[in-house]
Amino acid sequence: MISYKDLGLVNTKEMFAKAVKGGYAIPAYNFNNMEQLQAIIQACVATKSPVILQVSKGARDYANINLLRNMAKGASEYAKELGYEIPIVLHLDHGDSFETCKECIDNGFSSVMIDGSHFSYDENVALTKKVVEYAHQFDVTVEGELGVLAGIEDDVVAEHSTYTQPSEVIDFVSKTGVDSLAISIGTSHGANKFKPEQCTRNEEGILIPPPLRFDILKEIEDKLPGFPIVLHGSSSVPQEYVKTINEMGGNLKDSVGIPEEQLRTAAKSAVCKINIDSDGRLAMTAAVRKILHDKPGEFDPRKYLGPARDELKKMYMHKNENVLGSAQQA
Ligand code: G3H
Ligand code: 13P
Ligand code: ZN
Repeated sequence: MISYKDLGLVNTKEMFAKAVKGGYAIPAYNFNNMEQLQAIIQACVATKSPVILQVSKGARDYANINLLRNMAKGASEYAKELGYEIPIVLHLDHGDSFETCKECIDNGFSSVMIDGSHFSYDENVALTKKVVEYAHQFDVTVEGELGVLAGIEDDVVAEHSTYTQPSEVIDFVSKTGVDSLAISIGTSHGANKFKPEQCTRNEEGILIPPPLRFDILKEIEDKLPGFPIVLHGSSSVPQEYVKTINEMGGNLKDSVGIPEEQLRTAAKSAVCKINIDSDGRLAMTAAVRKILHDKPGEFDPRKYLGPARDELKKMYMHKNENVLGSAQQA
């Protein structure tokens, strides 16, 4: 059993309490490799922001749980070396079973998500409660989910989203004992969050998505005052990255994300964790494609991964400062 407390990490408890009070959201950035992690830590230290490092099942398969844990430990030492100690959480994103959550808790994660949203309500309650009972013995915090997001979550693909029903949230939180709740109010995973027919187009032909269901968020907030709410699928899909990717040989069609102003509004409410993965993928891909296009003779990975890391850092700093409001809160 490896405790996150020995790795220089924290759980989400204090972080979320401060974020709810302060009207901002903690960034939850996914990572799978060293350059992403360096960019996250550099950006969060530079902006003095707390951060949640997220590891999906796909990331575990790709990078190995032991390596990822030690990378998170190294990240906490790296942050100090950069000159400012920020609170860092190592979080399992979309845990799909009790066993997966237990393995992560036993391997130094300070927070886990158990995503029972694809099960029946009663099965979701039973599974989430089981994870909470195990996790809380070790001071590990747990995120549950009610409502289904459209898109791909690891192996689970949902065609349509089902909004969270506000009538269920009090019962779910009190029966399970979760520390935070992910809800579905119109966000979804990936770079194609809405079908073109769900959107309108502006003069430049850019897709404008339908607004998030802030009315549902408000109802949930009224039922659970001060309780930490989580938004998944919150990439904004910056069109400049999509444009660069397509101009440099890529082929992304009808990509559309959640407008930053709406995330800013959400962050000021009970939403205190905002999950962003796809935007990082787009930033890196755009930078790598551009360099390989502009310098066809380049074959040193540091020469394209380094600038990709710089672009990522810039993007994360912008999110912390202008979207989530987490800058200067560490
Ligand atoms: O929720 C999904 C995250 O973006 C993780 O994606 O399973 O491809 O690592 P992944
Ligand atoms: P995006 O695909 O919008 O970045 O969402 C990531 C996410 O929710 C990870 O859990
Ligand atoms: Zn997610």
